[in-house]
Amino acid sequence: MTQQPTVLVLGASRGLGFALTKEWLERGWHVIATVRSPSGELTALAARFPGSLEIETVDIANSESIRALRGRLGGRRLDVLYINAGIARGIEKSPAAADEQDFLDMMLVNAFSPVRAAEFLRDLVPAGGTIAIMTSELGSIQNANGSWQLYSSSKAALNMLMKGYAAQHKEDRHTLLLVAPGWVRTEMGGSDALLSIEESIPLVVDMVEANRGRPGLRYVDRFNASLPW
Ligand SMILES: NC(=O)c1ccc[n+]([C@@H]2O[C@H](COP(=O)([O-])OP(=O)(O)OC[C@H]3O[C@@H](n4cnc5c(N)ncnc54)[C@H](OP(=O)(O)O)[C@@H]3O)[C@@H](O)[C@H]2O)c1
Repeated sequence: MTQQPTVLVLGASRGLGFALTKEWLERGWHVIATVRSPSGELTALAARFPGSLEIETVDIANSESIRALRGRLGGRRLDVLYINAGIARGIEKSPAAADEQDFLDMMLVNAFSPVRAAEFLRDLVPAGGTIAIMTSELGSIQNANGSWQLYSSSKAALNMLMKGYAAQHKEDRHTLLLVAPGWVRTEMGGSDALLSIEESIPLVVDMVEANRGRPGLRYVDRFNASLPW
């Protein structure tokens, strides 16, 4: 039997989730990576790391989909559960101009669904293990400057929901990380973003590994610096 540590990355078809998957594979981990629909990039990665990458199909906004994944995982042990999936809609708009559905979709996918996924999967993470969720620097209420305000609100709501989660599940002894990866050039981040994926994700993985065995909730950037709520 393999002694490889295992990470589950929810939302790994492209962008930062794909890069997290690749980074952990290159570090010798076993990775379970999820997509909503087939990802050519991920399939090619599976061929490069035979036996180390499993691909699952999950929509985190659908509770049955997450429950079905929990069922398929059975008694598997997850050293790290990394919930990366997220969306950005109507990014320059205020509530006066925005499409209501865009806001509701972001609250569902970015705030509610990641914490629900943590609730459904937490029993697979042993004491001393880690649950990390991709939030954003924009989720800080203290630092808010009005940019991407609808998206920012969904990440602030995620942070608040994780405060509640942490208070309810202290006995799990999990490291809980709300991770701000920096502004990164992906489909969501856009071409003007300050960082390449390579300038963000290896540091994010270093930071997750540095926090191993430190129970409790932290809102942190890729350098492991705490951010103001
Ligand atoms: N890029 C940045 O500058 C930046 C900064 C701060 C935080 N973040 C956060 O980092 C995370 C990844 O962002 P990114 O830049 O890599 O974005 P991206 O390139 O748009 O990728 C988003 C990923 O989330 C997945 N996803 C979306 N909705 C999903 C759902 N309902 N169920 C499962 N997977 C879903 C997408 O899958 P599909 O291919 O199926 O759509 C895709 O794999 C997000 O949470 C984002 O908010 C990004």
